[in-house]
Amino acid sequence: MSNGNAVGNIFCEKAGCPVKKRGMFICIEGLDASGKTTHAHRLVRNLQKRGFEAIYTTEPSAGEIGKFIRKYVLQRRKRVPSVVEALLFAVDRVDHVEKKIKPALQEGKIVVSDRYVYSSLAYQGAAGLETKWIEEINELALPPGLAIYIDVPAEVVVRRLRRRRSVMERLEIQRKVREAYMRLVKNGSLIPVDGNRPRDEVSKDVLTIVLDFLKSWGKH
Ligand code: TMP
Repeated sequence: MSNGNAVGNIFCEKAGCPVKKRGMFICIEGLDASGKTTHAHRLVRNLQKRGFEAIYTTEPSAGEIGKFIRKYVLQRRKRVPSVVEALLFAVDRVDHVEKKIKPALQEGKIVVSDRYVYSSLAYQGAAGLETKWIEEINELALPPGLAIYIDVPAEVVVRRLRRRRSVMERLEIQRKVREAYMRLVKNGSLIPVDGNRPRDEVSKDVLTIVLDFLKSWGKH
């Protein structure tokens, strides 16, 4: 995936802010119960505190297709065929990009998405689908400027997941998904952050990566 899908111009509201900023799309990835939702929210709050206009969003989206996916794909005992999962997530993604991500970027905001196309590459890839096909059906997905992976061992998330009900909760599945995410880390698509540490340390690292990125990107 290529980087740098900035749309519009944004300005840090705090006086003397050193960085020129434009709309920026960032996504946070990780296994179920890896803490990525907490860190995506914390990132948004930390950016807002620094004067940036930042918004949180998520996939599956809060829209009708996302709601359908939560009910009929995720909250059931048996998984639907992985091809069906991949297609539904891809459709939801286009809807999400068109209705939420692009408009916010055009207003110059920083959009932080809790999951994006890498979730399809990891989860549906781990279920046996070819990466190339998943990429093809996600061709319309706007590439993010920055994608961060909160890395937590599969054994840890499965312990945390015991209280939740999801079709993805099995250790075997989470292990395979983690392997798929690590391949995306190795090929440079995702920036890893060790998520198996106290929350404050993890969110500090996430913020540092984002601020450094915004700074270097602002120079161009
Ligand atoms: P979450 O709301 O806790 O992040 O859970 C969403 C679930 O949906 C999680 O198990 C991962 C799964 N998922 C996919 O399998 N593929 C995708 O493309 C997306 C966005 C999510």
